[in-house]
Amino acid sequence: MSVTADRSSPSEDDDRALASAFVAYAVTATLWLLFATAVGVLLAYKFGAPDFAPGEWLTFGRLRPIHTNATFFGWASLALVGLAYYVAARSSGTRLYSVKLAWIGLVLFNVAAVAGTVALELGYNDGNLEYREWPWPIRLIFLAALVITAWNLIGTVARRGTKDIYLSNWYTIGGVLWTCIIALVAILPWYQYGLGQVSVSGYYMHNAVGMWFTPLALGIFYYALPKLLSRPIYSYALGVFAFWTNLVFYPIIGAHHFLFSPLPWWLQTTAIVFSVAMLVPVWGGSANFLLTMRGRLGDLVHSYPLMFIFVGVIGYLVGSTQGTFEAFRSLQEVWHLTNFTVGHSHLTMYGFVTFAIWGGVYTLLPLATGKVPSQLGLSLHFWMAVVGSFIYVISLSIGGTIQGLDWIHGLPFIQSVVDIQAYWVWRGIGGALMFLSHVVFAWNVWRMSFGPSVKAAPLAPQHADEAAA
Ligand code: HEM
Ligand code: HEM
Repeated sequence: MSVTADRSSPSEDDDRALASAFVAYAVTATLWLLFATAVGVLLAYKFGAPDFAPGEWLTFGRLRPIHTNATFFGWASLALVGLAYYVAARSSGTRLYSVKLAWIGLVLFNVAAVAGTVALELGYNDGNLEYREWPWPIRLIFLAALVITAWNLIGTVARRGTKDIYLSNWYTIGGVLWTCIIALVAILPWYQYGLGQVSVSGYYMHNAVGMWFTPLALGIFYYALPKLLSRPIYSYALGVFAFWTNLVFYPIIGAHHFLFSPLPWWLQTTAIVFSVAMLVPVWGGSANFLLTMRGRLGDLVHSYPLMFIFVGVIGYLVGSTQGTFEAFRSLQEVWHLTNFTVGHSHLTMYGFVTFAIWGGVYTLLPLATGKVPSQLGLSLHFWMAVVGSFIYVISLSIGGTIQGLDWIHGLPFIQSVVDIQAYWVWRGIGGALMFLSHVVFAWNVWRMSFGPSVKAAPLAPQHADEAAA
C-alpha cells in the first residue's frame, strides 16, 4: 500500500463517510465510558463497604484493572482516535486516506478491549505490569490497531492541499507513532525481567499518559479552540516549541514512579530533574491556549464546548504542575502509595484528557453530522461532571495527605484507614455525580449522532488552518 498525493477536495460522499466513522468511534467510546465508570463507582463503594458485592467476579483485584484499562483503551483511546481522524481530514482540506482502514482499526481496538476485559474477569492478568494487565497477545491486537491508525493519519495528511502540516496533526500523529514504540517495548520479552522491568514499567506507565493521551488531547485543543473562537491560535511557534520540548523531556521521567526503589539513584534524580523541565512544555502549551482565549473569557458563558475546553486546559496546567511537585523526594515521602496519587490520576485523566475529549466532541461532532445536543443536556453534563470531579479530587488529595502523614508518624496502618474513611465516602458521592453526567453525555452523543438535524450547524464548517491564517 502506498501513500499517494490526491489533492482533490472531498465530495459529499467523502464527508458522509468521514462523519459515520467519527460517529462510530464516538458511540463505542461512550459505551466504554459508561461501562468503565460504572465499574469505577462500584470500586469506590467497596472502599466504604468491602463486603458489598462479593464473589470472585466482583473482587477489587479483578475490577480495578478492568476500570483502568477500559477507561484508557476503550474510552479515551477510541474517542481521541475518532477526533484525530476528523481533525486530520478537515485541517488538511482532504478526505480520509482510507475509510476502510478506519473501520478495521475501530474493530481491532474494540476486539482488544472486549478480550482484555473478559481475560481480566477470568483472572488472566499480567498483574504487576500497570496499565498493561491484558495478556500480551491481546496487547498485540491493540498495537495492530495503532499501526493502522498511524498509517491512515499519515496518508490523510500527506494528501493535504497546503504546504504546512497544521499543528494539531503534529501532535496527533506524533502521539500515535510514539505509542507504537511504547506498546512494542511493553511487549518485548527481554525487557520484562528483574530491575530492568521496573524501569520499563515506569517508562511505559508515564509515556502511556504523556506520549499518548497528552499529545492527542493537545492536538484537539489546537483545532477546536481556533474554531470555537474564530481566531488563530496565539502562537504557532510556541505550539511547535512545546511539541519538541514535550518529546525531549517526557520519555525520561518514568522513574519518578519508583523513587526510593532499588533503581539507580542517578536515574531517579534524572527523572526528578526532567519532571521539573516538563514545566516548559506544560506552561508553554497552557499559556498558548489561555492567550488564545484572551479577552474572550466572557464567551464561556454562552458556549458549553468552550467551557469543557477551558476546564481541560486548567486540568492540564494544574494537574501537570502538581505532578512536578509530586516528583520531589520530600513530597514523595508523604504522598507515594497514598490516595493522593489517585487524586492526581483523575485530575489529569479526567480533568484534562476527558474534558478535552468532551470539548472536542461537542465542537466537532455537530459539524460532522449537522445535529446538536440540547442546552439542558449540555448544562447537566457539564455541571455534574465539574462538581463531581472537584469533590473526587479534593477529597482524595486531603485524605491521601492524612494517610501519608499517619504512616510517617508510625501510626498503626488501620488508623490510616479509619482517618481516610470519610474522604472515601465523599469520593463515592463525587463519583456517582460523575457517572450520572456520563449518562447525560451518552444521551447528548445519541442526539448528535442520530437525533433530528438542525438547519445550520452551530459553527460554519471552516478549516482550522483557515482560522489560523
Ligand atoms: C507533565 C508533568 C507531570 C509530572 C511531572 C507527573 C508526575 C507524576 C508522579 C511523580 C507520579 C507518581 C506518584 C506516585 O507514585 O507517588 C504520577 C502518577 C501518575 N500520573 Fe502524573 N505527572 C505529570 C502529568 C500527568 C498527566 C498529564 C497525566 C495524564 C494525562 C498523568 C497521569 C498520571 C497517572 C495516571 C499516575 C498514576 C500512575 C500509577 O498508577 O502509579 N500525569 N505523576
Ligand atoms: C465515575 C467516574 C470514576 C470513578 C468513580 C472512578 C473510580 C476509581 C477508583 C475507585 C479507582 C481505584 C483507586 C484505588 O485503587 O485506590 C480508580 C482508579 C483509576 N481510575 Fe478511575 N474512576 C472514574 C473515572 C475514571 C476515568 C474517566 C478515568 C480515565 C480516563 C479513570 C482513570 C483511573 C486511573 C488511571 C486509575 C488508577 C489510579 C492510580 O493508580 O493512581 N477513572 N478509579
